[in-house]
Amino acid sequence: MTRTELTSAEVLALDRAHCWHPFTPLREWEDAAFSPAPPVIVSGEGAVLRDADGREYLDGNSSIWTNLHGHRHPRINAAVRAQLDRVAHSSFLGATHPEAALLAAELAALWPLGALPRVFFSDDGSTAIEAALRMVRCFHLARGDDRRAVAAFDHAYHGDTLGAAALGGIALFHGIVRAGAPPLEVEHVAGMAALEALPPERARSIGAVVIEPLVQGAAGMRLWPLGTLRHLRAWCDRHGALLIADEVLTGFGRTGTMFACEQEGIVPDLLCLAKGLTGGWMPLAATLATAQIYETIAGPAAERRAFYYGHSYTANPLGCAAARANLAVFREEGTLELLQPKIARLRSLLADEIAPLPAVREVRQCGFIAGIELRPGPTDRPPRARAACLAARERGLLTRNIGETITLLPPLCVEEGQLARAVEALRQGIRGA
Ligand SMILES: Cc1ncc(COP(=O)(O)O)c(C=O)c1O
Repeated sequence: MTRTELTSAEVLALDRAHCWHPFTPLREWEDAAFSPAPPVIVSGEGAVLRDADGREYLDGNSSIWTNLHGHRHPRINAAVRAQLDRVAHSSFLGATHPEAALLAAELAALWPLGALPRVFFSDDGSTAIEAALRMVRCFHLARGDDRRAVAAFDHAYHGDTLGAAALGGIALFHGIVRAGAPPLEVEHVAGMAALEALPPERARSIGAVVIEPLVQGAAGMRLWPLGTLRHLRAWCDRHGALLIADEVLTGFGRTGTMFACEQEGIVPDLLCLAKGLTGGWMPLAATLATAQIYETIAGPAAERRAFYYGHSYTANPLGCAAARANLAVFREEGTLELLQPKIARLRSLLADEIAPLPAVREVRQCGFIAGIELRPGPTDRPPRARAACLAARERGLLTRNIGETITLLPPLCVEEGQLARAVEALRQGIRGA
């Protein structure tokens, strides 16, 4: 059977029989009687996704926080096609290729004064974090320092591989990992005050602190108090710990600047990028490091010094080509300049249309990332925010809730009219929930 012969009902039947979806209540998903059925997405254009029955949805969470310039952007599609006609994949072990070399140079050039000149490629946000954790350990060991712990904040989310999940601070997601033997020694701290309060010898054992700069996404778009990054940079410098900025969500314009760290004028020692790196086209991640980290870990082959970490698809040429096209779109289309009035428009729409609703507890916004927290419903029922999202979907907005928080972060290319319609769909969805 070919793809085009399938009806949406047939796709769903096959899916329900064979697929296993992430972060999904499986029994409900399997239940064909569950209404409304999930959309079967078959195409997209700009900020809009289309399902097999011809219905259109605004991509209200940018296909899980990945898409920046819209679906099927001609510049990115052309770059991937051109690379496909050269080679789809070749190994980065003992060989290199132009797209990776150029992309690494372009990513390094996004930071002033060559602050983060080394780029290590991997596949996803989680693997960018895993690589950073491994670098932290190698860096300290190479300096004869046995510090093993990494500090991470409550409510944090850094991915789902075991190392990344061990850093997580969301009980529902990470309890099962943290309840077992720890794959990593993690000091979970509630915030900057708790970090500052660590006893001196514990502070000296911390090799790195990892943070989602400005906003903790998976915690429901929780905003950090202003100045947190500056304080954290100072704490790390005082204690000889490395600072890992997890900009998997916040990188590439989402907070209004290219990187969230810029807003507090700090440079991390390690920077993790994924999601929007390819414009949302395909999996590719990068861990950027200072020269000091690279030089400390590097050593002669005779000493068998290497960074023993990697994946089969490291620096995949198609992903690198998409990522270079993504950066070109930022430069050529003035994405960040065009975004500023949209951020202001989103702020006023949320203030006027959403915040006054009786069901709304709090509206949080960081750049073009918004979280709308509803007042909790009965604890024995699914979150009201889920019902609101489903109702908004019926009105053409596709997005997801995290507990009682509805996330709204459309592609940066969304038009102001689309934004207004999305907020209206959400307003009606919340009123009915
Ligand atoms: C801040 C942050 N770090 C890491 C990740 C993990 O990325 P991935 O899902 O690509 O592994 C996510 C995913 O949502 C994230 O939001």
